Amino acid sequence: MSAKGREPIGVIGTGYVGLVTAAGFAELGSDVYCVDIDAAKVERLRRGEVPIYEPGLEELLARNSERLHFSTELSGALEHARLLFVAVGTPPTYSGDADLSAVHAVVDVIPASDRHALVMKSTVPCGTGTSIARAFAERGKDGLGYVSCPEFLKEGSAVKDFLDPDRVVVGADGGWAGEAVVELYRPLLASAYGGIGSGELVRTDVASAEMVKLASNAFLATKISFINEIANVCEETGADVVEVARGMGLDERIGPKFLQAGIGFGGSCFPKDVDALKQLAGNSGYHFQLLTAVIEVNELQKRRVIGKLHKHLGGLVGKRVALLGLAFKPNTDDMREASSLVLSARLTADGASVSAYDPIAEEQARRLVGGIDFADSALTAVADADAVVLVTEWPEFFELDWAEVAKTMKGKVVIDGRNALDAEAVRQAGLLYEGIGRGASH
Ligand code: UGA
Repeated sequence: MSAKGREPIGVIGTGYVGLVTAAGFAELGSDVYCVDIDAAKVERLRRGEVPIYEPGLEELLARNSERLHFSTELSGALEHARLLFVAVGTPPTYSGDADLSAVHAVVDVIPASDRHALVMKSTVPCGTGTSIARAFAERGKDGLGYVSCPEFLKEGSAVKDFLDPDRVVVGADGGWAGEAVVELYRPLLASAYGGIGSGELVRTDVASAEMVKLASNAFLATKISFINEIANVCEETGADVVEVARGMGLDERIGPKFLQAGIGFGGSCFPKDVDALKQLAGNSGYHFQLLTAVIEVNELQKRRVIGKLHKHLGGLVGKRVALLGLAFKPNTDDMREASSLVLSARLTADGASVSAYDPIAEEQARRLVGGIDFADSALTAVADADAVVLVTEWPEFFELDWAEVAKTMKGKVVIDGRNALDAEAVRQAGLLYEGIGRGASH
């Protein structure tokens, strides 16, 4: 049962964003009617199984199981809820544009009504709201409301990000639904907006809300590619990018976050959204030069480790390289666009044999990566390796006994692809440490 006064909602799509949104609003007291076309997934969710790895999500779903309803049919959501959150996938097409077919499928099946509104959580190109409003009008469904409410959660801390957002963006072009969405989020908002949380509220029009999402992801990706290029220049000039980032980040206008140099960004969002914004601009006749560079820098950055390995090992044929971590970042099993995919493919193409260990992502990785050995621990992965590469900065790798690693390895090279290891500890074990952009001192 909904807590007193909390509006029931529907959530269409039980992927990452959908499930976290559903669990989060259930936690706040709403009855949530989740709909997914994947019957097997719906069955699993009904049994209390969580199909993705996300810290805290399983507990949140379990704690609110009475308020969460899962179905393959839209009818329950339509009957009980006015607001239907859309959280379906928008993967890239071959042209780099976002594939909106799942979004349009929802637009097609939703019946004419002046009681319901779609609340768009999926990341969509700027202009989608306008085209959906047009589609509604063409089909005699103009009574339906539409709100753009982009999601900013990060994998690995999604539950916390939902319950403690920096900001909530609600874009509406009139009608009742915008205010109803704000009401749902009210408890998470700062007192200035009548809430008890700390989130800022951005009430705006649909197109601007859509652009806030795309521009935010593109900016963060730009920040990463920028620091990666600084790291590469640091390698030429003897500076240490970790020190440089620290010095830069203390300027409040720059800030310390997203200045960690490494082997590039991956995941289901940055690569796709940066490309989608570039294409969106291009389709409107504008050449977004900066984003072209952000993407290219990232592709090259994923390959930089290969150059380092060549330098130390003098060729990779017959060499054994151990990859520590495979997921695109720690605390997730997500392998989409992970740097490890490019790395392992390049290594095997260059004649190396690859062993890899990831605490969580092995099952996902096995589907995408062929021709490498999966180990069940870091120490097994590094056995007989000529070189070890830290690919994903899982906390358990910070606890590694480097003396033990040195004994187990055949060679001595440790490449820290995330500048996350204790360089001194690695060196003290008699190993050769190289990070990304760590200059002369590292
Ligand atoms: C990203 C955004 O951070 C979220 O705000 C957004 O909601 C989400 O995309 C989305 O659009 O759904 P996410 O993809 O989960 O979230 O991951 P991030 O934590 O942003 O990391 C992305 C990639 O950048 C990772 O591969 C990470 O290793 C890399 N990264 C991040 C760096 O290389 N350096 C950094 O300083 C930060």
